[in-house]
Amino acid sequence: MIKLVLLRHGESEWNRENRFTGWYDVDLSDKGEKESRSAGELLKKEGFVFDIAYTSVLKRAIRTLWNVLDGMDLMWIPVTKDWRLNERHYGALQGLNKAETAQQHGEEQVLVWRRSYDTPPPPLEKTDSRYPGNDPRYASLAENDVPLTECLKDTVSRVLPLWLEEIAPEIKAGKKVIIAAHGNSLRALVKYLDSISDEEIVGLNIPTGVPLVYELDDDLKPLKSYYLGDQDALQKAINAVANQGKA
Ligand code: 3PG
Repeated sequence: MIKLVLLRHGESEWNRENRFTGWYDVDLSDKGEKESRSAGELLKKEGFVFDIAYTSVLKRAIRTLWNVLDGMDLMWIPVTKDWRLNERHYGALQGLNKAETAQQHGEEQVLVWRRSYDTPPPPLEKTDSRYPGNDPRYASLAENDVPLTECLKDTVSRVLPLWLEEIAPEIKAGKKVIIAAHGNSLRALVKYLDSISDEEIVGLNIPTGVPLVYELDDDLKPLKSYYLGDQDALQKAINAVANQGKA
């Protein structure tokens, strides 16, 4: 049976400050550093081994993967860093505090911006210093692929080609894979794997630093999925993510 592990990065400095982060390249907090080390220990204890790994081009996910692979003595395995696993781009909300934004615009509006499938947050201007188009790590992207904002649907449309064209064929060829990415790039993948509807995906929240295991059949259809570790703590962590948008 095939096992795939998805892992959202550990808590970042901006998660700690409750700020919309998106493509801003913030590092892990001390808590996030510990979460990522614990995730590695847990995976090792449960007997997981990986042949290859995928992550984004953002350091909170990269460092999470490093810490996991370090703890598993797997720092040597091939790692692919791909912008298509980046967090969903948060547009003009990037940098703002989520609770203050809810006070200003209402919790309903913030829920739409955070969780609706196809309504993006307000876009950046290309002249904004937060526009990723001038960042060398995105220099090879077509201008149309550099986002000014993204809804989850936009994120699905960049994550899915990576999954279908690169990751899924590796898994089918027998490689054991871990993907260290972000709340919304992983929601995009989970939506596809579990065929979750556009309405239901609104209620799906992924906690930081907890390995999510998928058991897949030969066609990569999920047989079951579960988070590793303390299940009470897990539910609290999921609720905490959902509540970040409350005033
Ligand atoms: C962010 O980009 O702010 C977070 O990493 C994910 O945010 P969300 O849970 O508010 O979508």
